[in-house]
Amino acid sequence: MNTHATSHAASGVARPVISATGLFTPPESISNEELVESFNAFVERHNAAHADAIAAGEMEPLQPSSVGFIEKASGIKARHVMNKAPLIDPAIMEPRHEPRGNDELSLMAEIGVAAARDALERAGRDARDVDAVLCAASNMQRPYPAMAIEIQQALGIDGFGFDMNVACSSATFGIQTAADYVRAGNARSVLVVSPEITSGHLNWRDRDSHFIFGDVATAVLVEDTQMAPAEHWDILGTRLKTVFSNNIRNNFGFLNRADPDSIGSDDKLFVQEGRKVFKEVVPMVAEMIVDEAQRLSVDPTGLRRLWLHQANAGMNRLIAQRVLGHEANDDESPTVLDTYGNTSSAGSIIAFHLNNEDLAAGDTGLICSFGAGYSAGTVFVRKVA
Ligand code: COA
Repeated sequence: MNTHATSHAASGVARPVISATGLFTPPESISNEELVESFNAFVERHNAAHADAIAAGEMEPLQPSSVGFIEKASGIKARHVMNKAPLIDPAIMEPRHEPRGNDELSLMAEIGVAAARDALERAGRDARDVDAVLCAASNMQRPYPAMAIEIQQALGIDGFGFDMNVACSSATFGIQTAADYVRAGNARSVLVVSPEITSGHLNWRDRDSHFIFGDVATAVLVEDTQMAPAEHWDILGTRLKTVFSNNIRNNFGFLNRADPDSIGSDDKLFVQEGRKVFKEVVPMVAEMIVDEAQRLSVDPTGLRRLWLHQANAGMNRLIAQRVLGHEANDDESPTVLDTYGNTSSAGSIIAFHLNNEDLAAGDTGLICSFGAGYSAGTVFVRKVA
C-alpha cells in the first residue's frame, strides 16, 4: 500500500484515483484513400443522375473530397469502424448492423463491456467489487433501459448504473461524477464506460465532415485510493465547463427522426461550423486549463504530458502551446487522431491509455476534453508508483 493510501486509510477520507483504463478498438479501419474513393464515386453518380438539373442551373453539382485536404485540415489518416462495407459502398454510405434480439447483448453494450473488461483486468479488479457503471457517450443506442445497466448486468456488477451524455466531454464529466461518488462515500469503485459508435451520427455524404469520426470504446476505473492497485493515477482535481453553442449540433431525437434522402444537409446527424468551433474553443479551453492548474498549484508549463481531446491536430497544437508555453512535441502531446479519427468523448482517454506507461512516479499530466455544448472537462492526474 502506498503512503497516500496509508494516511487516508488512517484518516478514513475517501480519495478518488484512476486505477486503470481499458480500450476496445474495432478491427476494421477505413483509410482516407478508401473513404475519398467511395465519396467521389457517390458524387459522380449523384451528379450524373442530376445532370439535366445541373446543366439547367437548377442544382449545384456536388464537389469531390480529397485525401490531401482531410489530412492537412484535421490530421486524420484513418478511422476504425464497427462495420466498414456499407459505409464505403457509394450506394449506401450509412451504418448497417445486424438486428439483435432483446435477449442478446446490444452492440454498444458489447464494445463497452470489452473496454470495461480490459480496465478491470489491468486493475486486477473483480467485477463484483465494482459499485457503479456510468455509460458516458455522445449517443445512446436506445433511450432505455440504460446502456449502463446492460453493461452492469453483463459484467455481473451488483450496484447501479445510468447513462450520461455531454457529447465529446462525456468521459471527463463521467470521471468527475465517479470521483464525486467516491469522495461522498456513495461508491468505492466506479466504471466510466464510453462506447462511441460515432459512425452512426456521421453524415457520410457530407463533404465537410465525412472524414471526421471513428468508432471505439474506452473505460476508466475510478476508485477510492484505499482499494486501488499500487500502480495508479491520483486525481489532483477535475473541472467542468459548459457554454451553449449551436456551432456543433445534432437535432436527432425521439421527436425528430433522420431523413435518409437528404444529402449533405441533414441536421438529424452531426453538423458543425468547424471554423467557428476552432476559433472559439481553443481560447476557452486553454484558459480553463491554465486557471485550473493555478487553482491546483500546478505549473502548467511543467506538465509532463497532455492527453487532449482528439478532434483536430491544429487545435491541439494551439492549446498545447498556450498551456506549455512552447510548441509541444509528440511526447508532450501525443495524438491518436491519425489512426482513430475523432472518437468523441473517447479520444483523450485513448490518448491516455496508449501513452502513460512510460511516465515515472510523480509525473503530472492532464486529460482534457472539449466539444459540443460547448463542453470541456479537465482531469489533472499524477502517477503513483
Ligand atoms: N475535401 C476537399 N476540400 C474540402 C473538403 C473536403 N472533404 N471539405 C471542405 N473543403 C474545402 C471547402 O470547400 C473550403 O473551400 P474554399 O476555401 O474554396 O471555400 C476549404 O476546403 C476550407 O474549408 P473549411 O471548412 O473552412 O476547412 P477548415 O480548414 O476549417 O477544416 C475542419 C475543417 C472541420 C477540419 C476544421 O474546421 C475543424 O476541425 N474544426 C474544429 C472541429 C471540431 O473540433 N469539432 C468538434 C467535433 S466534436
